[in-house]
Parts: sequence; C-alpha cells; structure tokens
Amino acid sequence: MNKITVAIDGYSSSGKSTMARELARRVGFTYVDSGAMYRTVTLYAMEHGMTGPDGSVDVKALVAALPEINIRFSHPDPDDMTVQHTMLNGRDVEREIRTIEVSNYVSPVATIPEVREYLVDQQRSMGREGGIVMDGRDIGTTVFPDAELKVFVNASPEERARRRVRELQAKDENVSYDEVLANVRERDYIDTHREVSPLRRADDAILLDNDHMTPAEQMDWLLNEFHKAADGKN
Ligand code: DC
Repeated sequence: MNKITVAIDGYSSSGKSTMARELARRVGFTYVDSGAMYRTVTLYAMEHGMTGPDGSVDVKALVAALPEINIRFSHPDPDDMTVQHTMLNGRDVEREIRTIEVSNYVSPVATIPEVREYLVDQQRSMGREGGIVMDGRDIGTTVFPDAELKVFVNASPEERARRRVRELQAKDENVSYDEVLANVRERDYIDTHREVSPLRRADDAILLDNDHMTPAEQMDWLLNEFHKAADGKN
C-alpha cells in the first residue's frame, strides 16, 4: 500500500478525530491528533499562571516558554498504535487536556502565530515519511498542502454540541448542553476568523457533511476515498 498522507480537517466535535483514528487503525498508518498539541500548550499556560479569569492569555510569557514545552505521544496499547496518550514534559495529560476549562482557552492560544509555528514544525516532521493520518484545522491548508487525500468534515453546531455533551458526560464531567453549544459556537468563530491559518476547507479537500451519517457509513465513505487516493499514487 502506498504510504500517502491523509489530512482530515473540520469543526470541533465534528467526529473527525474518531474517523481519522479508525482509518489509521484499519490501514496501519500513524495517527496524530494535532488538536491535542494545541490543548497541551494551553494546559501548560493554565498551569503556569499565563491565563486570566477573563479568558485572556499572557502571550509574551507563553511564547517565551515554548522551548520548555515538550509534547510526545505515548502508546499504552502495543497492539493498537492509534491509542495515544498525550505527554507534557513526560507527564500523561490525556485526561486533563479534554476538560471544558482547557476547551475554553484553547482557541485564543491557537491564534498565537508563534505557537502555531512551533507546533506545525513538529507536525511536519512527524509526517516526513508519509503513512500518516493527521486531523486538525489547518492540516490540508498549511501543514500538509500536498497531502494526497484531504477531507473537510462538517456537522451542524447543535449536533456537534450534543455529541460533545455525551462525550463529556461519559467522562463524568458535569456540563449543560447550553454551555457546550456556546463553547462550540465561540470556537467556530475564533477558529474561522483568526489571522494565521484560519479554519477553512482547502480547495482540493473533499467535503463530508456527517449530520445524518452513522459512524459506520462515514468509515465506509472514508475507506473508499482512501483507496482511491492510495491506489492512484504512483
Ligand atoms: O480538535 P480539537 O477540538 O481538540 O482542537 C482544539 C483547538 O485547537 C481548537 O479550538 C482549534 C485548535 N486547533 C488548531 O487551531 N489547529 C489544529 N491543527 C488543531 C486544533
């Protein structure tokens, strides 16, 4: 099989990470959740007093601290390399980076050009050899503009908020639908309006609107697109 590069972008909670991870597992590729990296930088900022209660971020301090933020992925299940735990300076932060507090600060952190540059460099080196599925917001536009397969996933804000509430409740996080919907809408706005690498569909990305699709239907669709792209590569 050709070791192509697959870029999966889309709005928050559109189900793109689940799809991307499952595709990587099925075809034996490396999977990288780039959002986890932005979340990890955000957690570091929160733990080091660089975020204010008003939602502000001390950009100068965070940019100066970037070289001290080491992000790695560990693989606790040797039989399934797509199961990843995000490590911040050697500490497993997989659970902490998924909380609503981190979600509330991550979009402003992701608007900082130096943060993006720092993470994009690392993402590109992870994909140097191909055979990778990476999901995020700017993978098809900025990180891997030459990716052989680019997918842009979308679903309505209401459907995405419902999914997110289910995910958070499964982790015993007490959140209301209204709070989550507000967070989804706010992140959509910031992600699509920021100056550097705003969330947008790459011209050559295939659109997947998954409001009314089951996970199995999405997977069939994605595998089909994958094989078209991988088999078409010389
Ligand atoms: O996919 P996610 O919800 O875990 O992403 C968290 C945040 O990180 C999201 O608000 C936007 C940002 N992000 C980004 O700007 N670029 C990426 N490639 C991935 C995520």
